[in-house]
Amino acid sequence: MWAGKPLDFVILASGTGSNARALLQRTQAKPELLRCVGLVTDRADVPALSVAASFGVEGRVISAKEPAALLEFLRQKQPRWACLAGYKRLVPKEFLDFFHDEAKGFARVMNVHPSLLPAYPGLNGYSRAFADGVKVSGVTLHLVDSGLDTGHVILQQAFARDEADNEESFTAKGRAIELELFPRALELAAQDRIQVREEKGARWVSLE
Ligand code: GRF
Repeated sequence: MWAGKPLDFVILASGTGSNARALLQRTQAKPELLRCVGLVTDRADVPALSVAASFGVEGRVISAKEPAALLEFLRQKQPRWACLAGYKRLVPKEFLDFFHDEAKGFARVMNVHPSLLPAYPGLNGYSRAFADGVKVSGVTLHLVDSGLDTGHVILQQAFARDEADNEESFTAKGRAIELELFPRALELAAQDRIQVREEKGARWVSLE
């Protein structure tokens, strides 16, 4: 159930920041629901930092080799959720521990991934799927655990490969979906609708 105050979240990003921008635009559209308390990047030269600045959000460069500095930032900002928006690093264990929700049984961390997981975990999901000639690919929003893109799926959306597609147009379809799906998943988190269910050995995210 929605707590009646905005959900504080941080963004981790290593790239162009288009997903970060989509999330920040949603905070502007729904300030009663979402509030971004900071953006962390592992590199000083990424556009994601200026995206954060353009929304008046503090951006911080923290090397992946400095988990203690990352933890210190989290302690200062006290976010409830973290959004990995093109963060090209595995997050340290301490990070997952910070967001671990004992009652729910998962860490309140979500990631956007450019494939229909569990197909194509890891980097370059669109180009690998295109090179393999798949007829359908897609985007996954998933919970983050200690594995590589192994956390439970929150939302997925597929797109078709058309005869006329090249790698660029194929990728563009996925990227457009990402920008819609990620803010939607974050809203579900803000409404406290993300639960993990378990039955007969199966575990999945139920959106209640
Ligand atoms: C996206 O394609 C996302 O799926 C992947 O990294 C890319 C990030 O792009 N995890 P951007 O920095 O949000 O533009």
